[in-house]
Amino acid sequence: CGIVGVIGRQDATPLLFGALRRLEYRGYDSAGIATLVNGHIERRRAEGKLDNLGHVLDRSPLPGLTGIGHTRWATHGAPTEGNAHPHGTERVSVVHNGIIENHAELRAELEAEGQLFSTETDTETVAQMVDLNLKRGMKPTEAAHACLQRLSGAYALAMIFAGHPELMIGARHGAPLAVGFGEGEMFLGSDSLALAPMTRRIAYLRDGEWAVLSRDDARFFDAQGRETSCEISISALPGGAIGKDGYRHFMEKELHEHPLVIGQTLQRMIDPATRRVVMPDLPFDLAAIPRITMTACGSAFYAGLIGRYWLEAEARIPVDGDVASELRYREPPLAKDGLALLISQSGETADTLAALRSLRQAGQHVMSVLNVSESTMARESDVVLDTVAGPEICVASTKAFTAQLSVLACLAIAFGRARGSMNESREEELVQALLDLPGRAAELFALQPAIQQAAAMVADARDVLYLGRGSQFPVALEGALKLKEISYIHAEAYAAGEMKHGPIALIDRNVPIVASVPSGRLFEKTASNLQEARARGGRLLCFTDQAGASRLGPLAEQVIALPDVHDFVAPILHSIAVQMLAYEVALLKGTDVDQPRNLAKSVTVE
Ligand code: G6P
Repeated sequence: CGIVGVIGRQDATPLLFGALRRLEYRGYDSAGIATLVNGHIERRRAEGKLDNLGHVLDRSPLPGLTGIGHTRWATHGAPTEGNAHPHGTERVSVVHNGIIENHAELRAELEAEGQLFSTETDTETVAQMVDLNLKRGMKPTEAAHACLQRLSGAYALAMIFAGHPELMIGARHGAPLAVGFGEGEMFLGSDSLALAPMTRRIAYLRDGEWAVLSRDDARFFDAQGRETSCEISISALPGGAIGKDGYRHFMEKELHEHPLVIGQTLQRMIDPATRRVVMPDLPFDLAAIPRITMTACGSAFYAGLIGRYWLEAEARIPVDGDVASELRYREPPLAKDGLALLISQSGETADTLAALRSLRQAGQHVMSVLNVSESTMARESDVVLDTVAGPEICVASTKAFTAQLSVLACLAIAFGRARGSMNESREEELVQALLDLPGRAAELFALQPAIQQAAAMVADARDVLYLGRGSQFPVALEGALKLKEISYIHAEAYAAGEMKHGPIALIDRNVPIVASVPSGRLFEKTASNLQEARARGGRLLCFTDQAGASRLGPLAEQVIALPDVHDFVAPILHSIAVQMLAYEVALLKGTDVDQPRNLAKSVTVE
């Protein structure tokens, strides 16, 4: 699910390949490149990882100054070489992200006109339609525009045309696409990270826009074909290679960045002089917000659930929330002038973006917690709270998650103060707890050998149960998700108190239980739930703190005592611990930790 394009002054293939490497983190299962060689379209594709495409290119190099490239995450059709992009005919070559919803109807129409398809993909419909338009005598720009007008669904597209080495067309409808401006060379890319080594001068296509690139310039048009203006911004992203810095995986590196990232994110939100939470300028009054609707996908949603505990308990503001793909269709009644709170690492997740738009349309103020400040969600929000996590490359989120939590904790404090539900001494106490966190998180890595040992208890299991109460319940959800994502072991998370109402039936020696149970207010209640499991032969792995360790010792097979922290921030530390556990289990299983099967980092289809 990454697109790149180059009209250049040097061989396009190495640039395209390098850009695809920088899009690898998004997850994909096949890849391909097409260039214009003496005016003809030639392509190379391969199933699986980019290295496979690299081998194909070594065996049969692809010259040419103009080309497009793609990493594909299968939606229609299996991840085979035949289904890999680019798709096309002798006249046009196309790469595509997203889904063309009316492809079946268009395909039937095109086949009736005599177009011969060679794949089952929705993308080929675009190529065949442009091809037919070209055969009917349209110029490439007319052919592309006429085609775009017929497409429904969400897509980003890039096209090149035989006999037109100085022309490339990009289009955006729902999935992101950026144009990069070079000196005598021009680029297209799914994000500015892909283009960063080549140029930092970036213009994002707005939804419904398409762009015609030549070697020296780009012209932007709206859906009706009227020329529009474009805004070039300077991307702040690093152009250098993003390396593993000696770690075995990006995930390991990113886990070790937790202390730094939490610190950087807090620095953005806490004034060091006054030690008070500072919010950016808001176009609305926090005190006047009657209710929050929180939504996100995957890990980001679990961050939001932890945020909900904080916002409700500390700021006494009601928070409703659901995963974005559900929230939109639930049609919940919304409070007038309520706040939509969106959380997303990438700022591009299609479900979250669609929810953002429908909440905005329903009159909500829109606040987003984002890691990519140049993303679509950033542009469509009233306020953006930045997580300062830096590029996260491992598909499974780690450091972005704790950065989101750091922001949400500060938001709860800001709301608490604005609403008068938190006095100054409570604010000081919580801010201090947050400021202590980077140090405590750094100490966590001393527990790696213990976590490694505990991982053996989980690695052989077919099913694992994660338990937690209160703000530790979403930690359990995050722990189970992380384990599923990178070790492919089935895991389920339950609110510890709910276990007796069903999942306790699963418990035997073969289903290990991972519990997050700090010695706070809910310790006794959670410990009782663990007793119930123990009494039925359940094997327990408990993450707790110093005080909790002595009390859980007799009960659990493995007890891991995390550094002592304030109860308020405990879920942040415990999240890191369950992420570390998942990592160690994945190492034992020997899976592809950074790019787990079937997953994509940034899912731009609904
Ligand atoms: C994908 C990833 C998840 C991630 C989710 C939300 O499904 O595989 O790891 O949590 O998207 O991504 P976002 O960029 O919106 O935080």
